[in-house]
Amino acid sequence: MAKVTLSVIKADIGGFPGHHSVHPELIKIAEAEMAKAKKSGLLRDYCVTSCGDDLQLIMTHYHGEENKQIHKLAWDTFVKGTELAKKLKLYGAGQDLLADAFSGNVKGMGPGVAEMVIDERKSEPVVIFMADKTSAGAWNYALYKMFADPFNTIGLVIDESMQGGFEFVVHDVMEHKKVSLHTPEESYELLALIGAPGRYVVSTVNRRSDGIPAAVSSTQKLSLIAGRYVGKDDPVLIVRAQSGLPALGEVLEPFSFPFIVEGWMRGSHHGPLMPCSQKTALPARFDGPPRVICYGFQLADGKLEGPMDLFDDPSFDLCRQKANEAADYLRRHGPFEPHRLGLDEMEYTTLPAVLKKLENRFKKI
Ligand code: F6R
Ligand code: MG
Ligand code: MG
Repeated sequence: MAKVTLSVIKADIGGFPGHHSVHPELIKIAEAEMAKAKKSGLLRDYCVTSCGDDLQLIMTHYHGEENKQIHKLAWDTFVKGTELAKKLKLYGAGQDLLADAFSGNVKGMGPGVAEMVIDERKSEPVVIFMADKTSAGAWNYALYKMFADPFNTIGLVIDESMQGGFEFVVHDVMEHKKVSLHTPEESYELLALIGAPGRYVVSTVNRRSDGIPAAVSSTQKLSLIAGRYVGKDDPVLIVRAQSGLPALGEVLEPFSFPFIVEGWMRGSHHGPLMPCSQKTALPARFDGPPRVICYGFQLADGKLEGPMDLFDDPSFDLCRQKANEAADYLRRHGPFEPHRLGLDEMEYTTLPAVLKKLENRFKKI
């Protein structure tokens, strides 16, 4: 059986209203484009959804990563959606399409991309995490917990097949470099880097015993591509589960704590990441707080059996309540740090223009 490729490509092509959600007509357009591509044989299967104002294309096919036809399909779907978004005067229509024309690969053109080539196991559970109002490094905490922390993943301790540990590939998004670190023995070095998620982003996690990919995230930073603030990067993450990888529940467990991420209002704040069902992933309060949804599938010869909406579960209620409490606490800081991001992170927002206005008024002390 040929290896199947799972491609998750997403973009914000217009919000409804403001930066709140994806208009149902845009979902219909994406569904129609995906259905055509499935009928033509380009795609094996697909699932279209949204998280907040981001349109999500989950696709399976046999053409490998960074395939021109698949990326073009996603790009053309976003362009078609943008045409309607403009007609409906949706907010920020086409905002994540940073280029005028497709150049062979959507990476670097605005959309977020995570792709994994999978040699399907006897049974292949995969989960797709999708977040809104946050940024690429948001998965760092969760990936460390899943694959390196025995207090989260008991399998690391009691399942012999996981004891070989995992390889974390970390991108330095400022210097455009990457480094590979091995857990458990290099977990301190790993944390030294990924504890700074604005700069160091876990891109992939592989099982060391056989090298199979276990997780892949989108690492695109829109502001770094465009050189200015163009909305947050709203990342996606693919994780495989079970049989010598973290169990489904171990994959979900890190999200039972509403850890603090960058994003929220104007991409300029720290706020708790709230796990929620797809239907409730509708950031409203102060354009947030940041949301994460999780779709679970069983892959069956490339077919996506699912989705199951895995955060649509009362056992995450307490976390959601804590997220609301943390959100409330942080909001009381108003424009003050640490609710507002530090100055280095604010460099890519609208703040520098404000500071520039004051430049000539500063006098030597
Ligand atoms: C966050 C986000 C929104 C906007 C905010 C202001 O990722 O996109 O919070 O930054 O609504 O938008 P403008 O400046 O377009 O009015
Ligand atoms: Mg938006
Ligand atoms: Mg968004």
